[in-house]
Amino acid sequence: MSDDVKYQTLEHDVIVIGAGGAGLRAAIECSARGLKTALICKSLLGKAHTVMAEGGIAAALANVDAQDSWQTHFQDTLFGGKYLNNWRMAELHAKEAPERVKELERWGAVFDRTPDGKILQRAFGGHTYKRLAHVGDRTGLELIRTLQDKGIHQGIDVYMECTVTRLLKDGDRVCGAFGYWRETGRFVVFKARSIILATGGIGKAYKITSNSWEYTGDGQALGYEAGAELVDMEFVQFHPTGMVWPPGVMGLLVTEAVRGEGGILTNSKGERFMEKYDPKRMELSTRDVVARAIYTEVKEGRGSPHGGCFLDISHRGAEYVKKKLPSMYHQFKELADVDITTGPMEVGPTCHYTMGGIKVDADTAASRVPGLFAAGECSGGMNGANRLGGNSLSDLLVFGNRAGAGAADHAKKAPAPKMDEAQVNDAAKEMTGYFERPNAENPYQLHMDLQNTMHALVGIFREEKELSAAIGKLEDIKRRAKNVGIAEGNRMYNPGWHLCRDLHNMIVCAEAVTRAALMRKESRGGHSRIDFPKYDDHWGTHNIVIQKQGEAMKLAPCPVVQIPELKPLVDDKKAKEAK
Ligand code: FUM
Repeated sequence: MSDDVKYQTLEHDVIVIGAGGAGLRAAIECSARGLKTALICKSLLGKAHTVMAEGGIAAALANVDAQDSWQTHFQDTLFGGKYLNNWRMAELHAKEAPERVKELERWGAVFDRTPDGKILQRAFGGHTYKRLAHVGDRTGLELIRTLQDKGIHQGIDVYMECTVTRLLKDGDRVCGAFGYWRETGRFVVFKARSIILATGGIGKAYKITSNSWEYTGDGQALGYEAGAELVDMEFVQFHPTGMVWPPGVMGLLVTEAVRGEGGILTNSKGERFMEKYDPKRMELSTRDVVARAIYTEVKEGRGSPHGGCFLDISHRGAEYVKKKLPSMYHQFKELADVDITTGPMEVGPTCHYTMGGIKVDADTAASRVPGLFAAGECSGGMNGANRLGGNSLSDLLVFGNRAGAGAADHAKKAPAPKMDEAQVNDAAKEMTGYFERPNAENPYQLHMDLQNTMHALVGIFREEKELSAAIGKLEDIKRRAKNVGIAEGNRMYNPGWHLCRDLHNMIVCAEAVTRAALMRKESRGGHSRIDFPKYDDHWGTHNIVIQKQGEAMKLAPCPVVQIPELKPLVDDKKAKEAK
């Protein structure tokens, strides 16, 4: 073996890839069950997209609205997901979210309080009652801080700035992961009996996104290539309110809590345009509806100067705004020189979340690959066609916990992992190969082409001819990606080299989104087809499941997981909404 393919070996019972809320919660559960647990972060511990769920965590605690219940939360989640959610996941989520929030409080999270000292809850789009437990507009940050403290004190082994490029297999089952340390470029192999993927979303495949550089669809691509199925990949959530200006911060999240606290959306004519799109819920309609409304206002010439619309909270008064939305106040003051206590913000849609991901069993978070589990945004099923705001934090706690338990149970029974040296060498060669290509494609150019393709052709509104054109462009990008590389430099902290591998994952995810979007001939939640603007009965009861077959992506409709005992709740919600 040459010097290039030397590697370090680390051994654990369970490895968790991704250290946002889902990964942390899963790792805590594994280590609480006595297993030697590794938590691998691509970035620094604590820097996770979880912090971008600013406005709150949805849980039917009924502290502010006493009528709230798990049943109503379940109904709202299915209504938001346009009934494509895995019902069992939505049931577990609604039932277990309150306990996960209380547990977080016991572990030290400091929530805002009601006058009588309970956890305060606020309104959010699509939730019937005030349901979001929050810490001002920094809820995700507090969640991560709390889980980090808990995890570190419990003895989880944390490996920072490490990128995993491949899952290693022993027959059908996973037995480890190959990666590199971002700082030195040296290779590392993690051996484990169970692996949990919790890597978050795919936002960096799009031009305008609230996601930071880490979110390149790593877990979805790693799982897919190891034999797991993907589900619901066509459903991409554009959060209605990202910053549109100045250019350097375009896409940065403006929390839904601004609307939850009474923020009003207007167009350039001063019209409160949500009256046209959802007169019942107005600004607190579901995200898919509000994002489409803003997009339409801009497209029809009623946008704000920088191509968005106006969002105003100043009527609540300076003291209230600074208390409830301190981060938003500072974000606009420092980045755009706008005082949101005296005037409106300019906002527009930003790619925020993927409803789709690795298909998992609701109870254990197991994928169909033995030993491989997934939780949080990189898994699919819980949110159906559209996620309600605040359901991501509860989702990652509920299913992070379940994935941890599932992976721990599996690890206790599984035999010791057997490594196949040929797989390790192959993974190493892939990474060194990026330095060995004469006339290589520039990874930054290729990334820009990918983002432009997805933004222009697979965005908020879609249609056949654009999706077909996107497939053509993605085929070309895939062909060029085979020759992507780095002309100079070495493996020591080399972002261009990192991007070569990240691109591979983004392309896999972009292709899955586009092919599924082409197949689903209807409009539903986060998937709007101009050529098929209505719901379709067949597609209303089917998810699209994707698996790897040779080098090709195989797509197939698959019936939605429904639970007969929950049907009366679903029918009741449908009847209420029809009124
Ligand atoms: O707007 C927000 O605070 C984001 C919340 C979420 O994505 O759940």
